[in-house]
Amino acid sequence: MSISEPLLKIEEVTHRFGGLVALKDVSITVQEGEIRGIIGPNGAGKTTLFNVTTGEIKPTSGKVYFREQDITGLPPQRICKLGLGRTFQMTLIFPGMSVFESIWVGVNAGNPIPWHPLKRIESMQRERERVFEIATMVGLQDKLNHQAANLSYGDQKVLEIALALSTNPALLLLSMNPLKGSARRKLK
Ligand SMILES: Nc1ncnc2c1ncn2[C@@H]1O[C@H](COP(=O)(O)OP(=O)(O)O)[C@@H](O)[C@H]1O
Ligand SMILES: [Mg+2]
Repeated sequence: MSISEPLLKIEEVTHRFGGLVALKDVSITVQEGEIRGIIGPNGAGKTTLFNVTTGEIKPTSGKVYFREQDITGLPPQRICKLGLGRTFQMTLIFPGMSVFESIWVGVNAGNPIPWHPLKRIESMQRERERVFEIATMVGLQDKLNHQAANLSYGDQKVLEIALALSTNPALLLLSMNPLKGSARRKLK
């Protein structure tokens, strides 16, 4: 990959839902190390743009390139494996699981299970360490045994980021909701 090539290149993407044009000729590039923000009022097309980028929706026209590969219309799991991660707005993915288990699901997802029992133990040990590492990165290391559903709203958002990090993305798309009502009061 040449240095100047962007990590993500969205090229003249248009998306129509029937007669409604949700995205019109959107072009964006994100270089490695760059932080970009997409802002806009309700209905502006932010979620649609994320969905097109991560493969949830195939755009009506235009192209999406990730690390110079054309990923337009590839299924989300393929795009995730290529290193493009995302969080969703307001979704607790595994409410009944502990923080440890939730992060472990993501860490484990990409790993083949070794056939040899000793190798399997080593692999589990590596996965445990990776879960601790990610939990520490986001500041949840002391809450590994807490049930996800019992976390504060702020910690739930942080857990979402930990889950997204567990797939080792090269680029992470984060959806943030302005806090409303009780959630905002809780954080104060
Ligand atoms: N699945 C869908 N079917 C039809 N219209 C949709 C669908 N998803 C979004 N839209 C419409 O597309 C436009 C952009 O929506 P969206 O991407 O959700 O905006 P934002 O995330 O910026 O609030 C809105 O007018 C919305 O009503
Ligand atoms: Mg949205």
